[in-house]
Amino acid sequence: MTIEQSYAYRTLKGDDHQSWAALRQEGARDFPLGFLFTAEEAATMTSDEARSILNKGHTRGVFDASYMIGYCGLQIETLQQTRHRAEIGPFYVTSAYQGCGAARVLLDGVIREARMRDVEQLELYVDVGNTRALAFYKRFGFERVSVHPDGFRIDGKPRDAYFCILRI
Ligand SMILES: CC(C)(COP(=O)(O)OP(=O)(O)OC[C@H]1O[C@@H](n2cnc3c(N)ncnc32)[C@H](O)[C@@H]1OP(=O)(O)O)[C@@H](O)C(=O)NCCC(=O)NCCS
Repeated sequence: MTIEQSYAYRTLKGDDHQSWAALRQEGARDFPLGFLFTAEEAATMTSDEARSILNKGHTRGVFDASYMIGYCGLQIETLQQTRHRAEIGPFYVTSAYQGCGAARVLLDGVIREARMRDVEQLELYVDVGNTRALAFYKRFGFERVSVHPDGFRIDGKPRDAYFCILRI
């Protein structure tokens, strides 16, 4: 049963750093196609670095009560000529909460917030083999506009990604 109403969306702050760091490491370990960084790289982040990144206000979280179950980056452009665009990513919901609406709450929150801030185009990259993420974004109307070749490498092997946009 999907109980989306119970999930809460909000901007992460420095004090969220421990849960956020744990999700970063877990995601990179369990879903390497979804992250540019490795779990080992994620593990090297200090608490101060994590706090500092979160205090910049570019990361959103989804919660079940007080428990952080997912997060995503939201980078809104600030230049006069590019501020109609924002990039999403990384985007992650912990395994136990996949398929039950938490990811939808997170992306709905991002879209709503972006609209309120006059963003007209959301952008993201998805590995061509990340079928679950591709299906998820497609349901929201994201379109594949190009392929980014050799964007990152797993064990030295090149990976391609779709560049996707959503006009909002
Ligand atoms: C991508 C992610 C956020 C999506 O959240 P989710 O809760 O799993 O999404 P949903 O279950 O609502 O939707 C996923 C879709 O893929 C389908 N799906 C489920 N398992 C699948 C699988 N193994 N392979 C392909 N498709 C699958 C679902 O049926 C659903 O399709 P539908 O919309 O046609 O019903 C989540 O899976 C995740 O965090 N993945 C790991 C990190 C990642 O890859 N992030 C994206 C980086 S760009």
